[in-house]
Amino acid sequence: MSTSGKTTLIGKIHPDVLAFTVGKDPVLDLELAVWDCVGTAAHVTMLSKMGVEPAVITEKECGKVIKALREVICEVHEGSFSISEADQDVHLAVERRLTERLGELGRKVHTGRSRNDQVAVDIRLHMRDQILGLIEESALLAQSLVKFGRKHLKVPMVGRTHLQPAMPSSVALWSTAYAESLLDDLLLVEAAYTLNDRCPLGSAAGYGVPLPIDRNLSARLLGFAAPHHNVFHASNARGKDEAVVLAACTQIMLTLSRMAEDLILFSMPEFGYFVLPAELCTGSSIMPQKYNPDVLELIRAKTATVMGYSATANTILKALPGGYNRDLQETKELYMEGMRVTRSSLRIMTLMADSVRVRPERLRGGFSAGVYATDKALALVAGGMPFRDAYQHVRAHLDELEDADPDAALAAKSHLGGTAGLDFKGYQMRIKAVLAAARSRRRSSERTIARLMGH
Ligand code: ARG
Repeated sequence: MSTSGKTTLIGKIHPDVLAFTVGKDPVLDLELAVWDCVGTAAHVTMLSKMGVEPAVITEKECGKVIKALREVICEVHEGSFSISEADQDVHLAVERRLTERLGELGRKVHTGRSRNDQVAVDIRLHMRDQILGLIEESALLAQSLVKFGRKHLKVPMVGRTHLQPAMPSSVALWSTAYAESLLDDLLLVEAAYTLNDRCPLGSAAGYGVPLPIDRNLSARLLGFAAPHHNVFHASNARGKDEAVVLAACTQIMLTLSRMAEDLILFSMPEFGYFVLPAELCTGSSIMPQKYNPDVLELIRAKTATVMGYSATANTILKALPGGYNRDLQETKELYMEGMRVTRSSLRIMTLMADSVRVRPERLRGGFSAGVYATDKALALVAGGMPFRDAYQHVRAHLDELEDADPDAALAAKSHLGGTAGLDFKGYQMRIKAVLAAARSRRRSSERTIARLMGH
């Protein structure tokens, strides 16, 4: 080994190799630091209850480790905890800190685990917290969109296909469609939550350990629904967990992106259906008159970014042999960034939805006689004409089509989910249930962790 190597907890490494392999971990892993302490507390508690003679860690020692972990958490909150290149990552940094505080006892905490199950559990704890935030923020945007729809319930809007005027529609149908899309996206997020709700601890390097560890106890202490069963699978689930959550984020971003595109288009002066408040727009350095929808444009672009992260995560996994490979480290940043971008996009879109102004006169002005063509054909059907004949009749007499009353057209679609059949109560109930479930999960997770950490 090179004598110029940098000394780490686990051997000497060439400085360039160390820098290359550590990558951004000293920064990214700071986000995992609290979770690493929590995961370590669960592992050490489980070790102290293992009932071997002599004990790997006694109950008293376990108390000391947890106290020291609480102090490390304080350092993280104060900003004085740092991860050096020689630490490599948060896992060895926390172990170093424990050993600095506890001496010999600190050197025991890594018994029966590997950084592979350690990082996997850290990410799962981080992800639980993040997914709950993602759910809440999606539901809050859905709530704003439903509110917007209620407020503009009777405002007509031309429904379009191929961007061409198609049929009478309404602002409420437009906005609640995106609310419902988010609620559907949340079903994917829910699946991601369920998949994430498994504890990999005890899988160690991916093959378990010859110690009587209690993996159910570790899972319970951290508030996971269960441990992964097969330890090799637990190890291979690293990366997939991240990819699944990125897939769910991609769907949310796709909803936001289409809505952003609609808002950009319909707030163009030529349409003028909506007005974006000046303070939510940005200006031009040369053209004094400009109020640009940069926020919406960035949401559109960031959708591509998140899709890219998702594709990259899947591609990293695609030909990866079973077992831990360092490639997996790269999925961490993809997940963290993808989640950050999705959550900030949700929050800024909520601000938009809460402040967009509607111009009913412009929306009504968008109606032309052609928009009522289908309604007209269906009126002929009501008089007994077969639909194809009615269609051909109206098509042959398009120039005779008369303007109709948009309000009556909206009122005529009273069937389920139509302009006059929107179930606002149903939306409200779905949103309330989603928010209540996320908040109760958060409370229960916080209680479990407080119990584990002894405060
Ligand atoms: N920073 C590493 C990662 O994110 C931690 C696990 C390292 N494990 C290993 N066997 N080198 O994957």
